Amino acid sequence: MTDPAPPTRARIPRHIAIIMDGNGRWAQKRRRPRLIGHRAGARAVNTCIDFCLERGVRALTLFAFSSENWDRPQDEVGGLMKLFAGALEREVDELDRRGVRVRFIGERSRFAAGIRDRMAQAEARTAHNDRLDLAVAVSYGGRWDIVQAARTLAADVAAGRIEVDAIDEARFGAHVALADLPPPDLFIRTGGELRISNFLLWQLAYTELWFTDLLWPDVDAATLQAALDDYARRERRFGLTGAQVGGNSEMSE
Ligand code: FPP
Repeated sequence: MTDPAPPTRARIPRHIAIIMDGNGRWAQKRRRPRLIGHRAGARAVNTCIDFCLERGVRALTLFAFSSENWDRPQDEVGGLMKLFAGALEREVDELDRRGVRVRFIGERSRFAAGIRDRMAQAEARTAHNDRLDLAVAVSYGGRWDIVQAARTLAADVAAGRIEVDAIDEARFGAHVALADLPPPDLFIRTGGELRISNFLLWQLAYTELWFTDLLWPDVDAATLQAALDDYARRERRFGLTGAQVGGNSEMSE
């Protein structure tokens, strides 16, 4: 992961990270099974990808399944797995056509071999694309991400490849997920909860946060544009003063 962008008044975010919350409630409001909500959520994912392509957002990270989601009722977990497998099968050609490079972040070993194979195929198939980097966080947790980085570095120290003192923020950050992308400029959470819920804990250090009560399947281009408009009005200071970054505010972040 590269350093934060130079302090500046924000424009189009380079990278958006989203917690797509509210699928279950969307279905319950219609007295339908929760999985119908997840299916509607998958349609909103497509809307969101199109929006990013149109606006020139270069990276999009979606929280599709957390480390904790495995503990949901087994029929919901099974249904979500079928939905992911079906979406991978159906959407990969279209994603490739639209110039989207797909990757999955998270603990892949917990998935069945068939789904792991499809993830690897989708990544290989779209690896040459460069219009939009799409990262789908599955079986992902921010604490897991930090722990796996710590383990890699501990192994390097134990093997004598690096000194303990050589571990700094840059070296640590190079081992968390999405290290090759700029950190998210904008975080969006739908569904009304005001939490980060173990999403990209390391990567969100200076990210602008935006919340909406809308449920994820109800999100459309106008919702996403409202988030971008709000983002464009924010002054990002990265710990400096408003005067230092050329704004009016003297308050430090
Ligand atoms: C949170 O809503 C959403 C999920 C756990 C699943 C997200 C999955 C999708 C949007 C579908 C497909 C995604 C891809 C990338 C193909 P919730 O169930 O926690 O909603 P609730 O808070 O209303 O119960």
